[in-house]
Amino acid sequence: MSEKRRILTGDRPTGKLHLGHYVGSLKNRVRLQNEYECFFIIADLHTLTTRPEKDAIAGITENAREMVLDYLAAGIDPEISTIYLQSAVPEIYELNLLFEMLVTVPRLQRLPSLKDMARSADLQEMPFGLLGYPVLQTGDILLPRAHLVPVGKDNEAHVELTREIARRFNNYYGEVFPVPEVLVGDVPTLVGTDGATKMSKSLGNAILLSDDSATVEKKVRAMYTDPNRVRADIPGTVEGNPVFIYHDIFNSDTAEVEDLKERYRTGRVGDVEVKEKLARAINAYLEPMRERRAAFASRTGLVDEVIYNGTLRMRDEARATLAEVRKAMGLGGVWNSIRRKAEKAIKNRERDT
Ligand code: TRP
Repeated sequence: MSEKRRILTGDRPTGKLHLGHYVGSLKNRVRLQNEYECFFIIADLHTLTTRPEKDAIAGITENAREMVLDYLAAGIDPEISTIYLQSAVPEIYELNLLFEMLVTVPRLQRLPSLKDMARSADLQEMPFGLLGYPVLQTGDILLPRAHLVPVGKDNEAHVELTREIARRFNNYYGEVFPVPEVLVGDVPTLVGTDGATKMSKSLGNAILLSDDSATVEKKVRAMYTDPNRVRADIPGTVEGNPVFIYHDIFNSDTAEVEDLKERYRTGRVGDVEVKEKLARAINAYLEPMRERRAAFASRTGLVDEVIYNGTLRMRDEARATLAEVRKAMGLGGVWNSIRRKAEKAIKNRERDT
C-alpha cells in the first residue's frame, strides 16, 4: 500500500482536448503525478446526462481513445497513474445512489453549471440524471478516497458539493472519506480564439492539443483581437485582448511579448506580426506533445491496454471502498441478519423432511 495522498480527476470523453483543458487542469495533473497517487477517470456515464441516445454512446469508444492519447501526449505517465473507464466500474452506480440520499434537490438546482449544460444541450427541462451530475462526480472523487481534485474553474462548485457530501457521510456513519480539496489551474478559464469567455470545442473556438502547426497558424490568424484597430498605425488595446492573453500564457519569450505589447499600444506593429509570433509560440508549446502523441499512437493497442489495466486496478479500489461504506452504514447487517435466519430455516426444513 502506498502512503501517498491521492488525486482523482478526469473528463467526459467528448473528443480531443484543447489548450483550455491543458492550462485549466491537465498541466497540474502532469506536475503532481509523482507527488500523488493519481486516478484519472474517463467519465463516460457523465456524457449520458445530456446525451443518452444510442448513437452518442456508440461514439464514446473512439472519443475515449483520443482523450487518453491526449493525456499521454500531455505527459501523463501510464506506468505510474491509473486511467480508467467509469462505466466499467460497477461500484460507481452503487455509491451514486447512496450519495443521492445525502443532498437536497434545491442544493443541486442552485448550481449554475447544470442549467448551462441543459441549455447548451438544447434540453427544455432538466433531466433527473443531469441534476444528479455533481452527485455522480462526488462518487467518482470519493470512490478512491481522493484528497485533491485538480479541475477547471467550471467544476469548482462540484467539488464544494463533494466536500459537503463527504462531511455528511462521515457525520452519519463515521469517518470513511477524506474531505477533498479543489485545485484550479493557473488559467482558471481560458478565453476562446473568438474572444468568447470560454474555450470550448462545441463553440468552435478551440485550439486542440493535437492540432498540427498549419492548423494552429490558421486558427491564430483568424483570432479575434482589438476590433477598433482597423490599421496597424492605430494604437491598440492589450488588456483583455485574447491574442495578448495567449501571448502571456504560451509565449515563453517575455522580452518579445513586452516589445509586442509596447508597439501595439503605440500603433507600431501590425496584427499579422503579433499573430505570427503567437502561432510560433503556441507551436513550440505543443511540439513536445505532438512528438509524444505520435510515439504513443504508433504502438498498436497501447491506449486500450492502458485503460484496461487502469480499470482493473480501479475495480479493486472500488470494491474495497464499497465494503467500507456498507460496513459503516450497517447496510450489510440487514442482509446478513435476513440471510442467517433464512439459511437456518432452510437447513431445519431439509432436516425435518
Ligand atoms: N465534470 C467533469 C467535466 O466537466 C468530468 C468529471 C466527471 C470529473 N467526474 C469527475 C472531474 C471527477 C473531476 C473529478 O468534464
